[in-house]
Amino acid sequence: MTNYVYITRRVVFSASHRLYSRHLSEQENWDIFDKCSRAKGHGHNFELFVTLKGIPDPVTGMVMNLSTLKTILQEHILDPMDHRFLNDDIAEFKDLLPSIENLVIVVWNRLKPHLGELLYEVKIIETENNFAFYRGE
Ligand code: NI
Repeated sequence: MTNYVYITRRVVFSASHRLYSRHLSEQENWDIFDKCSRAKGHGHNFELFVTLKGIPDPVTGMVMNLSTLKTILQEHILDPMDHRFLNDDIAEFKDLLPSIENLVIVVWNRLKPHLGELLYEVKIIETENNFAFYRGE
């Protein structure tokens, strides 16, 4: 038996986005995205849950020091994304629609180089009824 533990840190950030594709007509955008396609965007308070999977260190009892994880999230997610317009301010969304599905992938890809094999899941709650998660598969 291997003592794998899943540990999660939650952070919250506010950002706006517009769901609109320039590959579709105005009518098609409206039909698909409805009011989420309006030109000036709309905001969400995104709740991000980052889950690590690992074996607790025999000395510290930790899978990872959560203060280290906090610093990584601050630097690579919160500083660039909090109070931003995701469509324009995040390079990955230059040619990618900033849907919740794509956002979990973008956050995963930003964190992966810093968390390596420990990174298990990125989950983002967009509204009280909608959330997405990604496990890098
Ligand atoms: Ni939205």
